[in-house]
Amino acid sequence: MFHPKTYILRREDLKKKIDTGVLLFLGNEESPMNYPDNGYHFRQDSSFLYYFGLDFPGLAAIIDIDENREIIFGNELTIDDIVWMGTQPTLAEKGRSVGIEITAPVSDLSVYLRKAAANGRPVHFLPPYRADNKIRLWTLLDILPADQAGKASAEMIRAVVSQRSYKSEEEIAEIEAAVDGSVKMHLAAMKMARPGMKELELAAEIQRIAVASGGQLAFPIICTVNGQTLHNHYHGNILKSGDMVLCDAGAESPFHYAGDLSSTFPVDSSFSPRQREIYQIQLNAYHAAIDALRPGVSNMDVHLLACRTLSRGLKEIGLMKGDIDEAVRQGAHAMFFPCGTGHMMGLDVHDMEDLGEQYVGYDERPRSTQFGLKSLRLARPLEPGFVITIEPGIYFIPELIDRWKAEKKFIDFIDYDVLESYRNFGGLRNEEDFLITADGARRLGPPKPVSIEEIETLRRG
Ligand code: GLY
Repeated sequence: MFHPKTYILRREDLKKKIDTGVLLFLGNEESPMNYPDNGYHFRQDSSFLYYFGLDFPGLAAIIDIDENREIIFGNELTIDDIVWMGTQPTLAEKGRSVGIEITAPVSDLSVYLRKAAANGRPVHFLPPYRADNKIRLWTLLDILPADQAGKASAEMIRAVVSQRSYKSEEEIAEIEAAVDGSVKMHLAAMKMARPGMKELELAAEIQRIAVASGGQLAFPIICTVNGQTLHNHYHGNILKSGDMVLCDAGAESPFHYAGDLSSTFPVDSSFSPRQREIYQIQLNAYHAAIDALRPGVSNMDVHLLACRTLSRGLKEIGLMKGDIDEAVRQGAHAMFFPCGTGHMMGLDVHDMEDLGEQYVGYDERPRSTQFGLKSLRLARPLEPGFVITIEPGIYFIPELIDRWKAEKKFIDFIDYDVLESYRNFGGLRNEEDFLITADGARRLGPPKPVSIEEIETLRRG
């Protein structure tokens, strides 16, 4: 956890942004796998971590704007808890470690909130995303789970987004530590892959490195010969000569900041000529996007630049045709790149996605409904302090090819005859993480092999 002053200053700043009422923060609970005492690894809520730093289940907190009071609610461990799980700081000690002097049992929370509501004071809360916290909110505020997202406090969401979007020096150091661990994970997978191995063996090594470095995974590992499936979490395939492996994996630092990297490499010691050609087109888009990063440029423009660069490369090899600017305007490139070029990253790998991407990535402006463009999570102008990923990719998705071809969709921009010979190609992407600085951008963490030459050198090992 950071120094208590970090949390005190964050809360002070938050209080200045809200007019009146009580801000309610629900920490996360243990999450059982198959019976209560057999849980998934505990992950605290990221906004709770941001303002209160306490990495324990069973906590909630309020910031009372009108009374200028901050309270942590939780229950002391019973002797049975201590026998089974070991000792822990007392609730008062936990509170003091993050600069909070008032603590109270969980049962006092509903009393406090009901009193505030009875006095006509608003109780602000963030959109809950876990079923247990939806039930908790229902009990505390008498708002049905189905109504909670709509009744979440836009004022509180805006205030939290306005703080968490700008990473401080100590947060950037945490993210760099996470990226450093992520690079080690990718290097290990790139070095060890051999024909005949299972994807599972690579995934196991990636996870081992994350855990051995004292953190966790920031998100479930993607490590697959079927990289055309964007979030492919199946690891049962055997690597064959001629395959490429797409690895998308990131470590989480001990303070729960994320790294998020993607690599694509051949199972053989070199790419095939066709893989090399597609890889280089993707790489050109990747570098075009990175070179465009600077304050004031909208991430929508960065994304569209990547789409146009990809599409021009695909036109050169006959997969696309016609006016490329128009093709991208109409969304034809989404046949090959049906998602976004990147997203915010911080305490969450998709930072603050639970608060709503219209707030985090769109300045509350409407989001496109066009296939492909609708999946861009971040469109707003970039600002110093933002940490974002850059991850354009090229994917050949047989079901999408068949559907669009049958519909004769974008026949002026896609050559379906040429495309047919790529239907089993798979997919590839590269991804690294960037801090937007005062005059440009800085890649976070150490470099990882990205160019064809770097990857093949590593594979020849
Ligand atoms: N790296 C996983 C994701 O961005 O969804």
